[in-house]
Amino acid sequence: MKTSSQYSPGSPILCVAGARPNFMKIAPIIRRMQEKPDPIPIKLVHTGQHYDPQMNDTFFNQLQIPLPDIALEVGSGSHAFQTAEIMKRFEPVVDSESPAAVLVVGDVNSTIACALVAAKKGIPVIHVEAGLRSYDRTMPEEINRVLTDQLSELLFITEPSARENLLQEGIAEQRIFHVGNVMIDTLRRCQALAVPVQDVLSDLENKDLYLKGDNGYCVLTLHRPSNVDNAQLFRQLLETVRMVSEEVPVIFPIHPRTRNRIAELGLQKLVESPRIVQLQPLGYLEMLGLVSESRLVMTDSGGLQEETTVLGVPCITLRDNTERPVTVEQGTNTVVGHDRQQVMSIVSDVLRNGGKQGRTPELWDGKAAIRIKSVLADWLRRRDGQAAMANG
Ligand code: UD1
Repeated sequence: MKTSSQYSPGSPILCVAGARPNFMKIAPIIRRMQEKPDPIPIKLVHTGQHYDPQMNDTFFNQLQIPLPDIALEVGSGSHAFQTAEIMKRFEPVVDSESPAAVLVVGDVNSTIACALVAAKKGIPVIHVEAGLRSYDRTMPEEINRVLTDQLSELLFITEPSARENLLQEGIAEQRIFHVGNVMIDTLRRCQALAVPVQDVLSDLENKDLYLKGDNGYCVLTLHRPSNVDNAQLFRQLLETVRMVSEEVPVIFPIHPRTRNRIAELGLQKLVESPRIVQLQPLGYLEMLGLVSESRLVMTDSGGLQEETTVLGVPCITLRDNTERPVTVEQGTNTVVGHDRQQVMSIVSDVLRNGGKQGRTPELWDGKAAIRIKSVLADWLRRRDGQAAMANG
């Protein structure tokens, strides 16, 4: 078994991506790391957690992410199966590459699986988007976040709450770096390329309702197990969506998990309406166009809470909590859980008064990956110095 003692200057940092929300975060990191005049050697590892063309290939193309150097091709499975399979396939990669570090982003199963393999081999783990906490351990992502942070040597954070959370969990202050939000780097870079909504809806017969109606449209996404796996709750949620659609038409790009659940539970009737468009999962540029021009977003996604804050679009978060409190304190987000009355009252406020206004949080300026690179360059220099001393 190779360990970090075999570290040698010039070893690559293995950058891991696996699922859809990872791709927008890894893209700017890779671009900046490879930028001249001082590139930092990296290799991209794709775990294959998401593999459908709409969940994967489209993002690689649109975000101009280079083809992965290493593809683990794990696919779907239970959490234990998926996590274990990633670990089994990642271990030999770490052995053969002797990386300088393993960089993971976000909170998906690929994040914890690769962090755990690296940490057990004495390879430093770098976590981008560290410290976010919902304090809800029923969320698989919360478990992934807490554990990954405990294993990490460098922790890059997006908002001040993350620092508080990490300090409370005993992470040393000097390992925490507030660098901003790499997801917003991608948003800023892609804004000019966003696909106009009339092109996203070009095949839709009654598209004028969405494009020319007085109330505009609402974008809906749902995929959290806590929303779609509980039959009764999911039905109630879709009934709420139906009520919202009477006020403002709804565009609903459907995650594969959610599409499966709608079919299994026989809930199709609730979303069959001329005022609800069901779409396949969209590419990044289509989604960006859709959200930018929308009146309102309803979601259980983490990333959309941040993107709507930056785009100034009111966001209703259909969860009991958020790990991204800055989007509520400073941004356009309101966390409503499953409170139908509150949803309807926000919808009415949006239609009458424009809804919640906000401002962009500190350092969400499109330059987070530049800051990450600069911290990493210093850190690598120090490590190279230590390695040189150790080798006499
Ligand atoms: C994962 C992440 C979640 C993230 C979400 C974004 C974890 C714990 N969860 O959840 O944080 O917000 O991605 O999409 O890592 N499937 C396909 N095609 C695919 C991928 C998945 O059909 O390309 C289906 C499979 O039936 C699979 C199900 O979706 O069983 C769930 O996929 P999985 O990767 O397990 O978790 P997500 O719900 O996508």
